[in-house]
Amino acid sequence: TGMFTYDPGFLSTAATQSAITYIDGDKGELLYRGYPIEQLAVNCDFMETCHLLLYGNLPNAAGKADFTKRVTNHTMVNEQMQFFLRGFRRDAHPMAIMTGLVGALSAFYHDSTDINNPEHREISAIRLIAKMPTLVAMAYKYSAGQPYMYPKNNLSYAGNFMHMMFATPCEEYVVNPVIERALDRIFILHADHEQNASTSTVRLCGSSGTNPFAAIAAGVACLWGPAHGGANEACLNMLEDIQKMGGVAKVGEFMNQVKDKNSGVKLMGFGHRVYKNYDPRAKLMQETCKEVLLSLGLENDPLFKLAMALEKIALEDDYFVQRKLYPNVDFYSGIVQRAIGIPVGLFTAVFALARTVGWIAQLNEMIGDPEYKIGRPRQLFTGSVRRDVLPIAQR
Ligand code: CMC
Repeated sequence: TGMFTYDPGFLSTAATQSAITYIDGDKGELLYRGYPIEQLAVNCDFMETCHLLLYGNLPNAAGKADFTKRVTNHTMVNEQMQFFLRGFRRDAHPMAIMTGLVGALSAFYHDSTDINNPEHREISAIRLIAKMPTLVAMAYKYSAGQPYMYPKNNLSYAGNFMHMMFATPCEEYVVNPVIERALDRIFILHADHEQNASTSTVRLCGSSGTNPFAAIAAGVACLWGPAHGGANEACLNMLEDIQKMGGVAKVGEFMNQVKDKNSGVKLMGFGHRVYKNYDPRAKLMQETCKEVLLSLGLENDPLFKLAMALEKIALEDDYFVQRKLYPNVDFYSGIVQRAIGIPVGLFTAVFALARTVGWIAQLNEMIGDPEYKIGRPRQLFTGSVRRDVLPIAQR
């Protein structure tokens, strides 16, 4: 029934056109709307980056103030959401909670669920960007058995997230500007990454005409996996395991396991489908990591030392050199998040928070494209030829 190109894992198929993010994997270059990630990370904050990804241009001061105000107008979630959370076990994985909460938003905001209506898409975009930090912090507070903290709109996007995470009704959280800036940078570095698995999921899901909240929930679900956003959690667990085995002294032994194809052990936070050179986000993340550890007096952090030792060995080892495996964004992000006080189980939820703007920008681009159709891959059928059903007694 027809001839189709067979390309498992989309190794050589462009599933869409896009004008948002550009990656040159051989050079290790990443541009959002033409702007190098290195410049955005230093000269802009996350609100400017969101504006850039959504609307295609960096705002001036007035435009930024206006956009920020539109976002902060929507930082609270419906008061009912806390009862939805109560249905979860306290030890539920935050990504299980996030998949549920984000999908559930569609039941609260009926005035922004028509994906084909540009006004609905606009307001749901703002709502999602505004509410993600609130939901992630709620997932954390629930697991910690602490009361939820309402957002504070006079704080920055990152500062407000830290307030909702770490303040309690009895004690204010004083935001350390170095950490606030580092968290904001983590958000910028994760904001978009063209047609990765979760973004492609959001596009495919949205292409059926479902509502924007449901499409983003699908992205959250896909991001959870350890080959994708779950790698930051898996990487930190790996570092802790090596540390327990004996730390830097055991790095060679661990690397031998990684290189043994039968072991099933991977060096988490290494390798990328597109980057065959250093992931520029990993470079920035490593710098941020150093800054944060220094400002907290943790410059001798054993996990950071361990990560540096692993990286050094890997970059000189034939196995990694031949396969062009370099650290990716997840290699150092866990160490930064852990230093900030974010628990390991929440790392991927923080990634989801930051990637939400990219997902929405890509969804908007797709729906706005006059050529867009429902995504419907074909298959090469490998099953049985036609056969007849025997009566049950004769099978
Ligand atoms: N450790 C050991 N070997 C590896 C690794 C690794 N982390 N990554 C790739 N390889 C090997 C792989 O076994 C294969 O070897 P061979 O050619 O002998 O069969 C070769 O390198 C090519 O890898 P691949 O699996 O064919 O490449 P892919 O493009 O299908 O997968 C990847 C890319 C990111 C899923 C993979 O590198 C991986 O699993 N890395 C670890 C998980 C990780 O860090 N993921 C985060 C990705 S970046 C941001 C994000 O999405 O969060």
